[in-house]
Amino acid sequence: MERVYYGGDYYPEHWPDGIWEDDRKLMAEAAVSLVTVGIFSWAQVEPRPGEFDFGKVDQTLDNLAEAGIRACLATMTASPPPWLSHQHPEILPVRADGTRLSAGARQQFCPSSPVFRRYAARLVDRVATRYADHPALELWHIGNEFGCHIRECYCEASAVDFRRWLAERYGTIDALNAAWSTTFWSQRYSGFAEIEPPRVAPTFPNPAHKLDFHRFSSDASLGAYLNEREILARITPDVPVTTNFVGLVQKSLDWHKWVQHEDIVSLDSYPDPYDARSHLEAAFGYDLVRSLKGGQPWLLMEQATSAVNWRTRNSPKPPGTMRLGSWQAVARGADSVLFFQWRQTPGGAEKFHSAMVPHGGADTRIFREVRELGQELASAPQIAGSRVQADVAILHDWNSWWALELNSHPSDDLTQLDAHLAHYAPFFDANITCDVVHPSHDLSGYRLVVVPNLYLMDRAVAANLRSYVEGGGHLAVSFFSGIADENDRVYEGGYPAPLRDLLGLRVDEFWPLPEGGSTTMHLDGTRAGASVWSEWIESEGADIVATFAEGPLAGRPAVTRNEFGSGVAWYLGTRPDPTVMRTLFDRITAEADVSPVLPGLPDGVQAVVRRGGTDYLFLLNHNSVPVTVSLPSPGTDVLTDPAPPSSEVDLAPYGVAVLSGQFGKDAR
Ligand code: GAL
Repeated sequence: MERVYYGGDYYPEHWPDGIWEDDRKLMAEAAVSLVTVGIFSWAQVEPRPGEFDFGKVDQTLDNLAEAGIRACLATMTASPPPWLSHQHPEILPVRADGTRLSAGARQQFCPSSPVFRRYAARLVDRVATRYADHPALELWHIGNEFGCHIRECYCEASAVDFRRWLAERYGTIDALNAAWSTTFWSQRYSGFAEIEPPRVAPTFPNPAHKLDFHRFSSDASLGAYLNEREILARITPDVPVTTNFVGLVQKSLDWHKWVQHEDIVSLDSYPDPYDARSHLEAAFGYDLVRSLKGGQPWLLMEQATSAVNWRTRNSPKPPGTMRLGSWQAVARGADSVLFFQWRQTPGGAEKFHSAMVPHGGADTRIFREVRELGQELASAPQIAGSRVQADVAILHDWNSWWALELNSHPSDDLTQLDAHLAHYAPFFDANITCDVVHPSHDLSGYRLVVVPNLYLMDRAVAANLRSYVEGGGHLAVSFFSGIADENDRVYEGGYPAPLRDLLGLRVDEFWPLPEGGSTTMHLDGTRAGASVWSEWIESEGADIVATFAEGPLAGRPAVTRNEFGSGVAWYLGTRPDPTVMRTLFDRITAEADVSPVLPGLPDGVQAVVRRGGTDYLFLLNHNSVPVTVSLPSPGTDVLTDPAPPSSEVDLAPYGVAVLSGQFGKDAR
């Protein structure tokens, strides 16, 4: 990319043709450089089966090309037209309770449906052939937010596809019976034909069956995506392909698997303006998305200029915060700032969703902010392509997330995103940049690796952690990690069996806390709070850093530290309160020789560096009051007209500064 792209979803088909004159003028004012076209166009371009009319799309793309604006062109399959489900009601998805969903909204297709895939393929073939050489075409956008509304489908076509998937995975029914522990509750299958999707059952379904259905459902959507991807690869092999993940982090799709089939990763991001800490979760999502392809820049495909329409109460974004949130994504590796959508529609379900051009037109606060941001981004093209580097990795795996949140566990309070954010927050607040990587990733480049409740862990991952620490790495593992194998079978021999020697301990029994309950620990002579979980830990060589301070576990280890090989493995047997977590991780990061991007920043100021030919330091003030930041070495403000390098930066309330200079490791 030669700049950070700016624009949004563009649906001119909602207005008479003359709207282009106004769109063209306003897009130029806002320095729009990329728009997404055609996401929901199927019913328009194929009004009757096999009858195509691309007139509107032709006109839109020609207009864009003439204005020098690039198009992210959709394959148009996100919302099948009413005629398709009318003729083939079997394409409509079915819930676990057997309810078949109706048409009349969007994403009304079963991803496994051969009928849906056949019609989608015919359309994609037409679209790709027609626009292969169009001068506006920059990249392909397959479907829209796979797995957003339809996370799983339980229809008969899905059942058939699930059986095929299982037969491929296990080969024999005996292997499946062993993996699923079907001797329990008399669930033994005598053939794949007997297996159904885990529909609503009298009580807890078999957890391994559920886990495989999660895996299958992600793969079924991936199959629908690949059905289109293969056509694009054949017709336009040189045009990059993406699909927008619904964020900030989505449970239904295994993004690690998906990105192997994408040229560039893209994400939709809608942090809630009512939530004063929503930028924390946003940052975590951005760090994860950036890490999916080894730090390659990614696309912020959608965000809102202000309010959305789909929460129960929809706050606008206060002045300045749309800019702040946009720069936050760029700071964490995005090479685009795109919105849903260019112009606010007068009708339809999203008429109260904000847009770049609101119902009120150009003379509005939103458009003024949109215009300023577009011009600002256009003035800093050199940022595109630069990369974020991190010394800390947080481990994330969709398989473990699915397994962690299955039922019949010691506590339903242990959920993956809460766990991630609890472990991520101390780094975020300390301005220590983290990657979020798969547990099998090569960890040797990181100084510290954090493992938040990685319940499901195959032996290869346990070996990866062990060799990382043996080689001198610092590792912090929290409770209920390394408990089950890939089939959700508990490792016998004392929890967490594959990590016991590494951690120097054994967990005798889990003691989860009651709903809303808390406990305390003795830590460094103070009484420190914790929640969610406690457990009976027997040290087998680990040093005891904190002990539980109350109840039946009083005096027993709560946090430990174990030297192993040339490295160190920490263990957290509870969820320390946020301030305690910060204290602990300050100590762990100091030992691991991990330092913040900038030391001593005021609270609420985020600092991230992207490295290219030079370093770009992004300073983001999340406070409603101004702050001044002192730099260790002078930086040149990239966003203002030529200004002498300075070591002091004033940030307005919700203000942003981007400085070029030497802010990397060598400069610290
Ligand atoms: C996204 C979706 C867009 C639009 C937007 C509104 O999830 O891809 O089409 O609905 O949400 O926030």
